[in-house]
Amino acid sequence: TNITFTMIKPDAVADGHIGAILGKISGAGFKIKALKLTQLTVADAQKFYEVHAERPFYGELVDFMSSGPIVAAVLEGENAVESFRSLIGATNPAEAAEGTIRKMFAKSIGENAVHGSDSDENAQIEAAFHFAGKEIF
Ligand code: GTP
Ligand code: MG
Repeated sequence: TNITFTMIKPDAVADGHIGAILGKISGAGFKIKALKLTQLTVADAQKFYEVHAERPFYGELVDFMSSGPIVAAVLEGENAVESFRSLIGATNPAEAAEGTIRKMFAKSIGENAVHGSDSDENAQIEAAFHFAGKEIF
């Protein structure tokens, strides 16, 4: 087993989907190792999404991700990064498979309900960005 990092994004928190999304995550067999409601500052969001700094949607992404509270979590599961990305579905909800979290809760390619790490290395970096060691169980 290994870990991945997720955020329930501001759109899904504002729409009242925290419980339903955590239910899907637990139902899929992931174990919650760390969990909190928090909000990114603009500077936090710029840093978290630094790899996308040259993409045309970077400004929009940073504004959106700092626009309201999010839920940050560290999850443990078998093949966690890949299996979690299958559970959330394609970046664009119009292309996401039936039953995926993004198909169920995302509004658009930008406001797409959840984040999932894209590699084991980034999962570690992203978990450490949001949580102190003693907050990860
Ligand atoms: P994350 O799990 O959030 O990292 O999504 P991803 O890995 O499926 O997508 P990617 O890392 O390529 O993009 C990061 C985030 O940028 C996406 O989840 C979207 O919120 C946002 N994003 C990606 N493409 C677009 C776009 O074309 N327009 C806008 N507004 N946002 C985008
Ligand atoms: Mg990504």
